[in-house]
Amino acid sequence: MLKICCIGAGYVGGPSCAVIAFKCHDIKVTIVDLNQARIDAWNSDRLPIYEPGLDEIVFARRGKNLFFSTDVDEAIREADLIFVSVNTPTKKSGMGAGMAADLAYIETATRRIAQVATTSKIVIEKSTVPCRTAQSMRTILEANSTKGIRFDILSNPEFLAEGTAIQDLFHPDRVLMGCLQTPEGLAAQQKLVDIYSRWIPRERVITMNLWSSELSKLAANALLAQRISSINALSAICEATGADVDEVAYACGTDSRIGPKFLKASVGFGGSCFQKDILNLVYLSEQLFLPEVAAYWKSVVTMNEYQKMRFTHRIVRTLFNTVTNKRIALLGFAFKKDTGDTRESAAITMCSYLIQEHAQLAVYDPKVPPKQIIADLIEPGVGTNEVEVKKHVSICSSAYEACVDADAIVICTEWDEFKMGALDYQRIYASMNKPAFIFDGRLILDAPKLREIGFKVETIGKST
Ligand code: NAD
Ligand code: UDX
Repeated sequence: MLKICCIGAGYVGGPSCAVIAFKCHDIKVTIVDLNQARIDAWNSDRLPIYEPGLDEIVFARRGKNLFFSTDVDEAIREADLIFVSVNTPTKKSGMGAGMAADLAYIETATRRIAQVATTSKIVIEKSTVPCRTAQSMRTILEANSTKGIRFDILSNPEFLAEGTAIQDLFHPDRVLMGCLQTPEGLAAQQKLVDIYSRWIPRERVITMNLWSSELSKLAANALLAQRISSINALSAICEATGADVDEVAYACGTDSRIGPKFLKASVGFGGSCFQKDILNLVYLSEQLFLPEVAAYWKSVVTMNEYQKMRFTHRIVRTLFNTVTNKRIALLGFAFKKDTGDTRESAAITMCSYLIQEHAQLAVYDPKVPPKQIIADLIEPGVGTNEVEVKKHVSICSSAYEACVDADAIVICTEWDEFKMGALDYQRIYASMNKPAFIFDGRLILDAPKLREIGFKVETIGKST
């Protein structure tokens, strides 16, 4: 029986390797992590991450050919293929702080493989890493390999998006793979191609050299984020001119060269990947003495920060230039719908700005635990401390509860349950202070209908 080990039971390692187990019953998949609580949750009825369709897949294969464990060494020892799917966050201190990827987790996992392995392994870089990281991994592994053991390294970046991870893993646009163009490298790559080809059409499995594969992952995220910053930049022009950003996006998106996806204006992109990976690209460009290239990509992040600040300023300005002690219902805290993940969520920045303006925030999100919301707001660097957060933030258990006595509602995440048919906006209006304002940061509401009810509506990318 072919054995796969995945190091890192997070948002990528968990779903991506659970899907391999689901699609290939004859492969034993063991997902390991150092975090005992996370592994306990994977082994319980309440999985550590919320992702539509994930429960069914895990519950169908767990204990059969899918296992979750903290015994990293044993899983490494018995595996033929090892996915390294650990976190690669932006460095917080030292060289490249605030830009470069922290590769400490990658290196620790690689060294563990080198120390523990007693048979040859194919090591697969699943994490998003700077270009040429596979070279460092190879140096570490080869320096530690003993006679008769060889390590082949593949790059196999992941393109799943949270909230649609299972769909993305079942029907990916493409699976990308890179290897050293040697007979051994190509043979190792073929083994991974054979696994994915069980459920993905072969023509969608793209192979190339290692460095192109590593860079393509950063490039794809940078291009996606750039589209959002572009439409968000246009949303500012729309608000000032009377143009409607949805109409502009539609007009541009129907040009087949541009395409309609990823042109939704918003309060700004969040998530653990876009900002981190662009900054990683900026750092790489600087290291390569390409300052103009670095500045170009940096502007995508700068525009995103501007969008979050711009929308918050619009809220304060519209509420008669002061939100001091006003109750503001913040609907949605996750960085997008259908996930409980809050990493880099625009809601965090907006809450911080509004707390600094002395607002009273009533926050509701269907999937983010209250503890997480508080933890995010007191995280160093966010700009608000524990005392301020305690004083200014209350967490609610429904949208209705958040809106009672509120002066304004701010839609931060596009959850379906905040849409017009799903929430009774008439009831909400009746429970609010007047004038009752709604700020739609996700373009999910029907402004004319809300105005009929009596709301004052402000929408991103539209003038009032
Ligand atoms: P995550 O933080 O959710 O999970 C990483 C896990 O690795 C953690 O549970 C951590 O405890 C574990 N870990 C770290 N070092 C370890 C070690 N030495 N041994 C065992 N376990 C270890 O991160 P994630 O969101 O799953 O992201 C993982 C990688 O995939 C990152 O490089 C990220 O950029 C990339 N990626 C993420 C997404 C996404 O949507 N989240 C999508 C594509 C790619
Ligand atoms: C992203 C990439 O899409 C995925 O391929 C990669 O593997 C990981 O990073 P993710 O961050 O999970 O995935 O979600 P995504 O759907 O890309 O959304 C990222 C952010 O952009 C969210 O905050 C979302 O709300 C925002 N967004 C997305 C917009 O504001 N407008 C859009 O049109 C699309």
